[in-house]
Amino acid sequence: PVAGEEERYRPNFHFTPKEKWMNDPNGMFYYNGYYHLFFQHYPDSTVWGPMHWGHAVSTDLLNWKELPIALYPGEEGYIFSGSAVVDHENTSGLSTNDAPPVVAMYTIHDPEKEDKDQVDVETQGIAYSTDEGMTWTKYRDNPVIQNPGIRDFRDPKVVRDTIRNQWIMVLAAQDRAKFYRSDNLKDWEFLSDFGVNTGAHGGVWECPDFFPLTAGGTGETKWVLLQSLNPGGPNSGSATQYFIGDFDGTTFTLDPEFEVELNKRKAFWIDYGKDNYAGVTWSGIPGSDGRKLFIGWMSNWEYAQEVPTTAWRSAMTLPRELQLVKSGTAYQLVSQPIRELKDFRAKAIKKQNIALDAPFVYRSEKGPALSSTEIKLTLEGLGDSTYRFELYNTGGDTLSFGLNNAKKEFFMDRRKAGQTDFSEKFAAKISTAPRFSSADTLDMHIILDKTSAEVFYDNGTTVMTEVFFLKAPFDTFSLNAGDPGSTVKSIAIHQLKF
Ligand code: FRU
Repeated sequence: PVAGEEERYRPNFHFTPKEKWMNDPNGMFYYNGYYHLFFQHYPDSTVWGPMHWGHAVSTDLLNWKELPIALYPGEEGYIFSGSAVVDHENTSGLSTNDAPPVVAMYTIHDPEKEDKDQVDVETQGIAYSTDEGMTWTKYRDNPVIQNPGIRDFRDPKVVRDTIRNQWIMVLAAQDRAKFYRSDNLKDWEFLSDFGVNTGAHGGVWECPDFFPLTAGGTGETKWVLLQSLNPGGPNSGSATQYFIGDFDGTTFTLDPEFEVELNKRKAFWIDYGKDNYAGVTWSGIPGSDGRKLFIGWMSNWEYAQEVPTTAWRSAMTLPRELQLVKSGTAYQLVSQPIRELKDFRAKAIKKQNIALDAPFVYRSEKGPALSSTEIKLTLEGLGDSTYRFELYNTGGDTLSFGLNNAKKEFFMDRRKAGQTDFSEKFAAKISTAPRFSSADTLDMHIILDKTSAEVFYDNGTTVMTEVFFLKAPFDTFSLNAGDPGSTVKSIAIHQLKF
């Protein structure tokens, strides 16, 4: 590549590894002012290989500092995805000083067994840190969970069940989630299976997450299971579905009202765009507001190893806050951009009550640029037509997205958004997503970086995230309404500065 070309695609504020390959986010925990983010990493190449856990920290979830690699593969195998918790009460007995140990649980993937076509390729191990996550020691009696005879058996996510004072762990086993319990993070007992006959099954289940969430409004607490799968996503390839239900300490059961909706839709997805995979949440976020913060890998196994960057590969999504809301009779999971974003707003343009009898056009030469940008807008007076948001530049690149309200469908079209020829799968078709609301107003929250758009519709009920590789930054956008009676009630375009 030409010098300088490389950085052309590096996002302004989404996490990327300094160098080489990255996939899933792993082991995220918060402790003592720092958000820790680990990630599947192969430091010797820009394609997938023997997996390590890379490591980065942040105090604001937006400015990240990459630290030395936390876990290296060894004799036992590669270090696949997993999670980490702060063991405040030292239930594990792994503490060597006054600080609580941080315990990571991950999958040991043995490539030698894989070569020999053995089924017990994947087992679970733990590692611990007694210096707040900076350095890690693999537990000497690994694996802590043997393989029960299932080829795909991985990605343990540990959560504290505060009601029953136990550790719960969920992992993905091919076509289901498996729940386990432990008192000490070392001895694990199998509890139950979930999912064989429910949800999407177009591919192998991977990277689950499981946590309680209290709904605003009703104050009811439900348990949420996130369940990534690959392939089989709503717009093909990798994606993450979610389930809402109850947990009695042993078994996860779908909430009856959620189940009714699920049976109609087959699956609910945390994101309907092509680029949000293997996302999980941070453990240990303090505070009375108990925020559930999520981050995903902003790529898709369909083309992740072919995207046109050469020194590094893949970014994470913007961290998001997950919330439970009741829409109609059933609960839904919604995502919002983290509120920390507000602290990075620089110059802004705000307008109100713009009639859409002609397209609304914004040119960035006069205000905030469009490659580090937060746009919030509300449309009013929607009819049964299409509301199209179009970003473009002088190089002829276009990204469009919006709502086809006749079909009750959101869309994102990156077929002309710069370089697409590196993979047939990348821009094969327009991505679509359901609109759940029938309101005649629509709110949109759009996060733009150099190489990604994350669009949150209807307060985050439907989200679409996709990446792109432009010839030049976008400099203009237009908003076209098929229906001349509609208006932009308000729009705010914020330049973000980090
Ligand atoms: C998901 C995944 C996980 C696995 C990891 C390996 O993207 O396939 O199931 O642990 O990647 O890097």
